[in-house]
Amino acid sequence: MEEKQFNPMPRIGEKAPEFKAITTQGDINFPQDYKGSWVILFSHPADFTPVCTSEFMTFASMEKQFAEANTKLVGLSVDGLYSHIAWLRTIKEKIEYRGMKNVEIKFPLIEDITMEVAEKYGMMMPGESNTKAVRAVFMIDPKGIIRTIIYYPLSLGRNFDELYRAIIALQTADEFGIATPADWRPGDDVIVSPAGTCGSAQERVEDKNLDCKDWFFCTKKLSKEEVLKKVLKK
Ligand code: BEZ
Repeated sequence: MEEKQFNPMPRIGEKAPEFKAITTQGDINFPQDYKGSWVILFSHPADFTPVCTSEFMTFASMEKQFAEANTKLVGLSVDGLYSHIAWLRTIKEKIEYRGMKNVEIKFPLIEDITMEVAEKYGMMMPGESNTKAVRAVFMIDPKGIIRTIIYYPLSLGRNFDELYRAIIALQTADEFGIATPADWRPGDDVIVSPAGTCGSAQERVEDKNLDCKDWFFCTKKLSKEEVLKKVLKK
């Protein structure tokens, strides 16, 4: 039998692949409908499963926090619309988890029974499952460019604090022209881009506003207030 061919996976720095889809909040035209906003497009393996339920409740409870960072959420699984609706109703009516209850999922959940979108975005990983999408996360900027991709397997629930941290870090890097070091959080020092010439390398190490561990590794202060004022302003 001929092996199924998969599309090449989209990559960081590329335009988010376009698609039209039916969702629990009506039809969407992606990414055009989201122009001007950051978007987290994420897949989950299946409706009515426990890890996914814990993830949806956590994401929904953080939706306002993401909205304040100009970030919209869009979910997807290869289930159908009526399954999605029934699952979201069950979550709201019956599920209580870690202090969360009556949780209404207001962001769109895409039905993708044909797997067209999941395949376009490289969310199907046959080594893990032929019938369920893995837990993929695509962070897409207001111009429709993919800026971060994160994958988790079926059994591992995502860390939503990390997704929020990444969205804030991406926007901080864009707004201030810096990079963020390991485990960065707003208020921590940020990284100044490396010097490109011998002259600028010398200037760097002599700059009193920078803390240079060496010529190629300089940090500077960036207050939490400055970051939040820029990133949460929109
Ligand atoms: C879950 O969300 O609980 C789950 C989904 C697919 C496989 C394993 C776990």
